[in-house]
Amino acid sequence: MLACTGCGDLLEAVIDPPREEPAALKQRWLTRRMSYQAVDMSGVWRFREFLPETYDAEMVVTLGEGNTPVVTAQRTGAWAGARNLWFKHLGWNPTGSFKDLGMTAGMTEARFAGARVVACASTGNTAASLAAYAARAGLTGRVYLPAGQASANKLAQALDFGAEIIQIQGSFDDALDGLLRRNDAGLYFLNSINPFRIEGQKTAMLELLEQFEWRVPDYLVVPGGNLGNSSSFGKAFLELKKYGFIDRVPRIIIVQAGGANPLSRMWTSGAKQLEALPFPETAATAIRIGNPRSWKKALHAVQTSGGLVLDVSDEEIQEAKTMIGSDGIGCEPASATTLAGIRKLNAEGKIDRDANIVAILTGHALKDTDYINKTQEQRTREHAGDCIRV
Ligand code: F0G
Repeated sequence: MLACTGCGDLLEAVIDPPREEPAALKQRWLTRRMSYQAVDMSGVWRFREFLPETYDAEMVVTLGEGNTPVVTAQRTGAWAGARNLWFKHLGWNPTGSFKDLGMTAGMTEARFAGARVVACASTGNTAASLAAYAARAGLTGRVYLPAGQASANKLAQALDFGAEIIQIQGSFDDALDGLLRRNDAGLYFLNSINPFRIEGQKTAMLELLEQFEWRVPDYLVVPGGNLGNSSSFGKAFLELKKYGFIDRVPRIIIVQAGGANPLSRMWTSGAKQLEALPFPETAATAIRIGNPRSWKKALHAVQTSGGLVLDVSDEEIQEAKTMIGSDGIGCEPASATTLAGIRKLNAEGKIDRDANIVAILTGHALKDTDYINKTQEQRTREHAGDCIRV
């Protein structure tokens, strides 16, 4: 059960106040970095005081997720007009995307709840992550993918980890609708509408703040698809502020792809309800989503932080991705929306050039090699007449 039986909205975990003072707990989290216990080596479970349940350590399904670096990006930043830009690269997780942060929490709960079969609809990354963690937990993983729309690399990962793959004629939204209509006994849903996944993803922000010695950046820029990630980050900051770990929250900026931009449209028009897009389209296939389920939580994150929502074109995404690659960092197309968004906001004078900005990169460059090869072929064609003179 993932929705409230009263109002129909998604469930959300409520965290008990931590039993230790912020300074003591911050120190405890740091000390755990020297431990070789599996739960301490996980960059998610290291922060377990902000997770819903204290499972026995041997119940936890972990692949040592989290522990991803913050990388500076001066050249890329200069291109985007931002003097102080960092990337938090969540693509450098075990299966190459941020999904692992939520999956360790969701899969642990699934096993705890006695699930046998775990399932999700996915544009690819959730499928790869679910497949790996299900294998790890000894459960059957079943993934529903929009046929011909997920990258071959992500599909290959799900196959490698032994998941059952069901290709759906239609979009990601159709696949998710179809899955949610099923209520096969023993089937446990692990899309980001599962509140335990949101809790795991929250820890990326605790790790980020620790890496910044608890100085809060001015902006946090996140790609928007089904809007679970932005929801989880907003929740993390509000909880940290409520319990005295930080004294302000960063402004959360969500960037969508222009052809898959229902939240951005809603934001710009001032509408009160999200209008789903029946045929979302973008080359950033990870975020080709027209009916994001967590939109209310994500909007709350933006509104309570004084942030905003925008969208960028596929051309802008491609340029930004090339730039991130040229800085030796790399990411998948959906992640590059962040840099494209920052550049656009700077060009429009909407953010201070001296602001401290953290952009979240959500997926590894190797997640979509077809995209890279196609971009390269296109460039080769465009420059076919050029020659090098010596
Ligand atoms: N970036 C990447 C690389 C993703 O795979 C996704 C979502 C997002 C951004 C958007 O995150 O949905 O929390 O707003 N991928 C999902 C999937 C939908 O099935 O792998 P979101």
